[in-house]
Parts: sequence; structure tokens; C-alpha cells
Amino acid sequence: MTSIVTQPVTARLTHAAIFLVVMLQPDARSGDAVRALCGDMASLLRAIGFRKPDRRLSCVMGFGSDAWDRLFGQPRPASLHPFQEIKGVHHAVSTPGDMLFHIRATHMDLCFELATQILCRIGEVATVVDEVHGFKYFDERDLLGFVDGTENPVDQGAIDATIIGDEDPAFTGGSYVIVQKYLHDMTAWNALPVERQETIIGRRKLSDIELDDTAKAPYAHNVLTSIEENGEALEIVRDNMPFGEVGKGEFGTYFIGYARSPARIERMLTNMFVGQPPGNYDRLLDFSKAVTGSLFFVPSATFLENAPTPATAASG
Ligand code: HEM
Repeated sequence: MTSIVTQPVTARLTHAAIFLVVMLQPDARSGDAVRALCGDMASLLRAIGFRKPDRRLSCVMGFGSDAWDRLFGQPRPASLHPFQEIKGVHHAVSTPGDMLFHIRATHMDLCFELATQILCRIGEVATVVDEVHGFKYFDERDLLGFVDGTENPVDQGAIDATIIGDEDPAFTGGSYVIVQKYLHDMTAWNALPVERQETIIGRRKLSDIELDDTAKAPYAHNVLTSIEENGEALEIVRDNMPFGEVGKGEFGTYFIGYARSPARIERMLTNMFVGQPPGNYDRLLDFSKAVTGSLFFVPSATFLENAPTPATAASG
């Protein structure tokens, strides 16, 4: 357990990120290229990151359910499955993705260089199906104007929320991640009085102070996403990023949530899209449309360094 190194799932939040979702050709050449990249990622990060160490370059690699079987075979992570769409008051779509690269740094230069180098390695066998360049907006706000990330667990709390322990011994040190790309209707959102926006989020807009529990609407975003099991809070770590293209009128939030079990993120999503109880859904979704949705397993860095082929995985 002590010798297992995790991927930088709980890295400090940064001001720049690139989210790359790729599909892989389903052949042996593609598997070889990806496993070689897995083994080289630590050295690539050193080579690029060392040029500006204070800019905190990091990368988390995740693998979709189908890709896992082709790339690594058995054993497979206990809770890995394709993202299940949710059809509630609003629709959480499920979109394909064999791999996710979550690249973070304080500045975009390092993110861009690493993304370029990754595609130099696997570009011939991989097709990028979604690429988002995220930035932090003023005071860590999303484009809706609210500070985003305040209630994230930190330090040991972040590790406890995201890193698999004894519950899946073959994959201790791993994690799960769900990503969704949301597009906002800014005209409709900005037409709301600020008090109404605060009721929807459950916090004050300017000060970021949480509304008193007695003042919160039952459908507030922070009510529907605060979940418990046996009296204990089930937490996740988020590193959402604004993105957009003004010329296209595109204003978005890239949601990314890490957890030691995907079930807790899925429960939050059901609360948001279907409602808890059903019908008491998240009004944020009246102004934010999910246009992608994928689930990935994030193996430990130790696993990636010695990434097994399906045959050796089965025998080992
Ligand atoms: C349009 C997409 C989203 C936006 C703009 C958004 C924005 C926010 C904001 C402004 C907060 C309050 C500050 C904070 O604690 O971070 C928040 C809290 C939170 N959000 Fe989201 N969010 C989005 C989607 C999601 C999704 C899809 C999930 C989970 C499936 C989620 C889970 C949470 C959680 C767990 C909290 C903390 C609740 C608490 O403990 O108070 N969010 N979000």
C-alpha cells in the first residue's frame, strides 16, 4: 500500500487546464502506443514541467470501460462501466470516450505543450473527440458568476473522498472520474434577479457565503449535491473550469468530478437531473445543458508505469 503512487487526482486547483477525450483504434498497434505512453508519462511530465517547475504541470489519465478491456484486460476495476445517461426533467447524455487526459498547470503554455507531446505519441491511433481549454475566471468564479470549488474537501479529506483503499485491492490508489461539458444560456441566466440565482445555487453571489439551511430552497444546487450514507457525507473533488468562444456565443462549464466510487457522483447527478424527490430537480439545469458525459477509471501511477497487456494481466 505504501509503495503505490497515485496519479495527481487531488492536485491543487490551477488557473489553466486542457481536457482531452480521445477514441482509440481498436487494434494491437493502438494498445502498444497507449501502453508505451503510460510508461513514459512520468518522464514526459518531468521534461516539460521542469522548464517551469513553479507552474505545477500535472496530468491525470483515465480509461473508459471498453478501452480498459482492450488495453489491460483482467482484472478490471470493480465499478468501471460506461457512463449511464439519465433521462429526468433534464437529460444527462452519455458520449463516447476511450481515454481522458486532464492536464493542469498555472499557465496554458505547459498544458498546451504536454497535450501536443501526448498527441505526438498516440496521434496516429487516437482521434480527439472533445478538446476543451479551460481557464479560471475572476475570483475562481464560473461564467455564471459564482465562486466554484469552495466546498471541495482538501488534504486528507480529498484523498479519502477520491482514492480507492481496501475496497478493491487490485486497484488501491486508483480513482474514478466523470466529466460533463455544460453550455450555459447566459442571456436567460443574466435576466434573473441575483437573489433568484442565489436561491438556485444556495450561496451568495458576491460574498460566496452559504445561505442558511432554513433559507435554502429544497432544489438548491448545494442541497441536491450534498449526500450522505450512514450519517457520513459522501464527498467528491471537483475542478470545474470555465471555457467558451465569444464569437460563437458559447459560454460553458467543464464539470470534472473525482471519487473513489462513481456511485456517489451518479447519485448527485440523479438528484440534479431527476430530482430528490423526483421533480425537485436542479434549476441550474434550466440554464445549463449537458452536451457530453463520460466515465473513466484512473489507475495509480504505479499501475501505469508497468501497464500490463491483456495477456500478461490475465496471467499476473
Ligand atoms: C453547470 C455545471 C455546474 C456548475 C456551474 C456548478 C457550480 C457550483 C457552484 C457555484 C457551487 C458552490 C460552491 C462550491 O462549493 O463549489 C457548487 C457546489 C457543488 N457542486 Fe456544482 N456545479 C455544476 C455541476 C455539478 C455537478 C454535475 C455535480 C455532481 C455531479 C456538482 C457537485 C457539486 C458539489 C458536491 C458541490 C458542493 C456542495 C456542498 O457541499 O455545499 N456540481 N457547484
